Amino acid sequence: MPPGPKSFATRGHLLVCQNSNCKARGSDLLYRALWNVLERDKLAYYKSGGSLRLTESGCLGACGFGPVMVCYRTRNGAMEEAWYAAVNVLLAREVAQAMHDETELPALQRYGP
Ligand code: FES
Repeated sequence: MPPGPKSFATRGHLLVCQNSNCKARGSDLLYRALWNVLERDKLAYYKSGGSLRLTESGCLGACGFGPVMVCYRTRNGAMEEAWYAAVNVLLAREVAQAMHDETELPALQRYGP
């Protein structure tokens, strides 16, 4: 059997909308800045032993409130999701740290379930 893809243990996944409405509100800059911060602070899973995934997303359904970001993680054995509107890099960094530390996620600008 040929070798399959390698998988990495992570503590969560962040997705930042890159659709047009969010981009008009700066989500492309947010995405790049967040990558820089995650790499600098060794939170990005693939390079430096961090624990977080970050990927671009299509429309997350809250176009008038962007940049929109969603976080998925498993905590205490249950899947948790958290949705954020009007995200800036400081808030995204706070969410990322809480995911890495496995602590409570920030309530600021959080909506949905
Ligand atoms: S364009 Fe970002 S949520 Fe729809």
